[in-house]
Amino acid sequence: FTPKRLAGKRVLLTAGPTYEALDPVRGITNRSSGKMGFALAQAAHRAGAEVTLIAGPVHLPTPAGVRRVDVQSACQMLEVTLAALPGQDVFIATAAVADWRPASEAEHKIKKDGSGQTPQLAFTENPDILATVAARPDAPYCVGFAAESEKLLEHAQAKRLRKAVPLIVANLGPATFGKDDNALLLVDEQGARELPRAAKSDLAVQLIDEIAQRLAARP
Ligand code: C5P
Repeated sequence: FTPKRLAGKRVLLTAGPTYEALDPVRGITNRSSGKMGFALAQAAHRAGAEVTLIAGPVHLPTPAGVRRVDVQSACQMLEVTLAALPGQDVFIATAAVADWRPASEAEHKIKKDGSGQTPQLAFTENPDILATVAARPDAPYCVGFAAESEKLLEHAQAKRLRKAVPLIVANLGPATFGKDDNALLLVDEQGARELPRAAKSDLAVQLIDEIAQRLAARP
């Protein structure tokens, strides 16, 4: 039995990696599986919310009852997120957005010319989707994720303040990419609370519950 704590609420999520094209056949990406974001989308739907899930390239089925929009790059993810934002109550940024994209995308495949010379790649910084959403006057309740290798609490608090979001969820390592379980540290203005190691699907239910409580307590 899951109480419908988010009945009548609208929840927007980003999940998975982004893919930044270099030419028509190559690009850079990262190793996010999207599992945590998809599990959260499912848990939010089961808690009664109307859920929109913006997904980078992942190999996961769409959770039942969830509206899914597929994107590739960080810039597309930002555009689709901003378009979906009006009327949302909660924004959960689980996507592992690529920090940089190639400064330009070649129209045709970059060819080896046989000289042994390698291409020189230049990069541009991608927009920060979470910080952009959190800075808007109509910002919903924003939740960010943090994957740190050291000084977890300190870095999570710093990230929370830098991005101006009420809640940061830190992965209590080791690296969870593609794994089915995880342990989380919830960091908000009150301090930190641990959700002990469990299946991502169970953690998602607990985390949605924590978010619903904070949303209800919001002035
Ligand atoms: O700055 P960092 O990548 O560590 O922050 C992680 C959090 O910010 C995650 O919630 C991630 O989804 C979000 N993020 C974002 N856009 C970016 C980079 C991170 O929404 N360009």
